[in-house]
Amino acid sequence: MGRNGHALKISVIGTGYLGLTHAVCMADLGHQVLAVDVDADKIQKAARGEAPFFEPGLEPLLRKNLDAGRLRFTGSFAAVADFADVHFLCVGTPQAAGGHADLGYLDAAVDALAPHLTRKTLLVGKSTVPVGTAWLLRARARAAAPAGGEVDLAWNPEFLREGYAVRDSLAPDRIVFGVTSDRADQALRLVYATPLAAGVPALTMDLETAELVKVAANSFLATKISFINVMAEMCETTGADVLKLAEAIGMDDRIGRKFLSPGLGFGGGCLPKDIRAFRSTAAERGVSSLVGLLTAVDTINLGRRQRAVAMTREAVGGVLAGKRIAVLGVAFKPNSDDIRDSPSLDVCRQLAAEGAVMSVHDPVAMPNAARAEPGLRYADSVGAAAEDAEVVLHLTEWADYRAIDPAALAKVVACPVLIDARCTLDASQWGAAGWSVHVPGQPRQQRPEGTQNAWPARPRARRRQRAPAAG
Ligand code: UGA
Repeated sequence: MGRNGHALKISVIGTGYLGLTHAVCMADLGHQVLAVDVDADKIQKAARGEAPFFEPGLEPLLRKNLDAGRLRFTGSFAAVADFADVHFLCVGTPQAAGGHADLGYLDAAVDALAPHLTRKTLLVGKSTVPVGTAWLLRARARAAAPAGGEVDLAWNPEFLREGYAVRDSLAPDRIVFGVTSDRADQALRLVYATPLAAGVPALTMDLETAELVKVAANSFLATKISFINVMAEMCETTGADVLKLAEAIGMDDRIGRKFLSPGLGFGGGCLPKDIRAFRSTAAERGVSSLVGLLTAVDTINLGRRQRAVAMTREAVGGVLAGKRIAVLGVAFKPNSDDIRDSPSLDVCRQLAAEGAVMSVHDPVAMPNAARAEPGLRYADSVGAAAEDAEVVLHLTEWADYRAIDPAALAKVVACPVLIDARCTLDASQWGAAGWSVHVPGQPRQQRPEGTQNAWPARPRARRRQRAPAAG
């Protein structure tokens, strides 16, 4: 029996980031969960208690629920249809050429499941989709299912963040139910009885609004980030400090400080593709003002990467070819090994394309980055990455990097020049340790009297010294 007294039989279709996390969290709420995927390798790993990606807290919860017998994995859609009364669709909706969402996996999931649906069933979409998709999927499922009109469909968008996936799933800010019947609403309220009893608000609405809530939320977050990044540009031209500005405007409750961290902009598997897909939908529907807004947000965001490349070029004297550049962080954000649309990896690619010699470090994302960009050199510690570097770029703000001893690192580099593209290192500490520090949107860190505002005139002679361990 579930914690809330309503243990349901639930299936989860797709065991990627969203699906595996959802399956584990549903089981942890006390439900009986059977998850299905067409990728046999993923299924086998998950059944052994291994998450195929880095997500703090997920593996222990996966093992706990496997051991408790509440969570199982299969490759059979017939088994899933037979087992569950509520089926969560959690497959990916990647960006297609042209920017719109590719719904191929969703269609395939419904096509695989529907022919086995012989009784009253609720399908629940969680994937991020263009508005109007839910109705099409409902018609598609009903047409292929022996149960026909007994198959209902709801939309229940997911708002989890990578790195906080478990917490966001078990204790979300809100739960959205897009439904066309009371029956679906009631079924979803039973599924989520535990968080609802704990006070998480639930909002019931139509399918279209539920679909839009998700893309609107991600678009707003992306807009906030691009807003603070254009403020960073403004600060750079005026000598103002964007971090102080963000702090000051963020204290206004109506604005809020979250998602106002300036720097390299947003990446990952969600925000960039979601704003492009939403822009596509807006264009199809003739909402040109939204097309304009989202185009500006995207352009500003991609401009941050070019800005980081330009700052690096300037720091090494104008020509990148042959310059040794150390990069700290390649994941699209800290606490993740995800490199999808990673701003850092994009910067690395652009620098390498101009002939720079790149040495890269990341606490967890290097295996994924090495598969995507085998031409970069991957170093197993911060010190090894920075050895003989002419400039060090801080591109993903892992907590480990805030613990680096700048004085020790200064001893292994060729030039103590830091570009803190994520604006999170202690610039005065690095400056005091002899580094020339450049942070987007902030006045240049003053170096000791007489040398301020000067990049080192030329690299110090290359030294062969043992590098310090990673910070
Ligand atoms: C995002 C949303 O935050 C989730 O609510 C949503 O469920 C998810 O997409 C999704 O659609 O599945 P996520 O992609 O995990 O979650 O990452 P975020 O924490 O939103 O960060 C996105 C990017 O924005 C990162 O590259 C991060 O470095 C950047 N960012 C974030 C900034 O540049 N500045 C900020 O102030 C905040």
